[in-house]
Amino acid sequence: MARNSLKIIRNYKNKKKIICLTAYTSSIANIIDKYVDVILIGDSLGTAIYGMKNTQSVTLDMMMRHGLAVFNSSKNAYTIIDMPYQTYRNKKEALINAKKLLSFSKCQSVKLEIDHSNIHIVKHLVKNGLQVTTHIGVTPQKFKNFNKIRSVGQNTSEKEKIFNLAIDLEKAGSCFIVLECINENLAKDISHNLKIPTIGIGASPHCDGQVLVVNDVLNLNNLEKKPKFVKSYANLNSIIERAVKKFSSDVVKKKFPKTIHTY
Ligand code: KIV
Repeated sequence: MARNSLKIIRNYKNKKKIICLTAYTSSIANIIDKYVDVILIGDSLGTAIYGMKNTQSVTLDMMMRHGLAVFNSSKNAYTIIDMPYQTYRNKKEALINAKKLLSFSKCQSVKLEIDHSNIHIVKHLVKNGLQVTTHIGVTPQKFKNFNKIRSVGQNTSEKEKIFNLAIDLEKAGSCFIVLECINENLAKDISHNLKIPTIGIGASPHCDGQVLVVNDVLNLNNLEKKPKFVKSYANLNSIIERAVKKFSSDVVKKKFPKTIHTY
C-alpha cells in the first residue's frame, strides 16, 4: 500500500473524517500507522517526551530526528511535521528551515502556527512548492504557561478575525488548517466555508478531521490537569507502573533472572 498523498487526504472532505494522531517515536508510529490517515510529528514532543513546560525550547534538530524516526516507521499515513518556535520569523528563515526539516525527515508537510502577521510566510513556502499545514485558534507556541490557555472565538469580533484568517490561509495555499480550542459555531462556519479540510483539536465535531496528542489518548504522561478536549482510551501510565513494580520486586526476591534467561 502506498503512503497517503495530499490529494488522497484532501479528497476526504465531506466524505470521510480525517483521523490524525501525533507520534514522536518509531514504536508508536509503527503501532498507529494502520489506524490513522495522518501522523503529526508535533512540537508537543517538548512536553510529551522531553518534560518541558512548554514548546518554546523545542529545536529544529529535535524535530528533524523524531520526524525521520516516525517517517521510517510508518508506511501508510500522510506525515505533517511542526516547525518549532522562532524557526519561521521571516520568509527567508522559514524557507531554509522548512526545506531542511522536510528533506531530513522525509515528511510531507510542515505545520506553522499562524496569525494575521505571518500569512505572507505561508504564501512564500507554498510558492516554493512546499505543502503547508497551518494551525490557528489557540497557538501553543505563544504560551510559556499552558495554564493560561483559554478557548478562543467566543465573541463576534474574535470570531470574525479567526474566520477571515482561515479564508486568507486557504487563499495563501495552506493545504489543511488545524483549529485548536475554538468555539463550536466558528469551527462549523470555517469547515463549511473552506474547500480545504480542517482538523480539529478542541474544536467540535464539525471539523473535517480530528487530532489528539497520542500520549493523552494513552494516558502516558498522567497529567494532573488535562484539557477539556482530551479523551483517554487507555491508562498506560498504570500499566507501566505495575510492570516496573513487578520487575523490581522479582529482582529483589531473586525470581528474575532464572535459568531460562541465563546463557
Ligand atoms: O504539537 C502538537 O501536537 C499539535 C497538536 C496539538 C495539534 O500542534
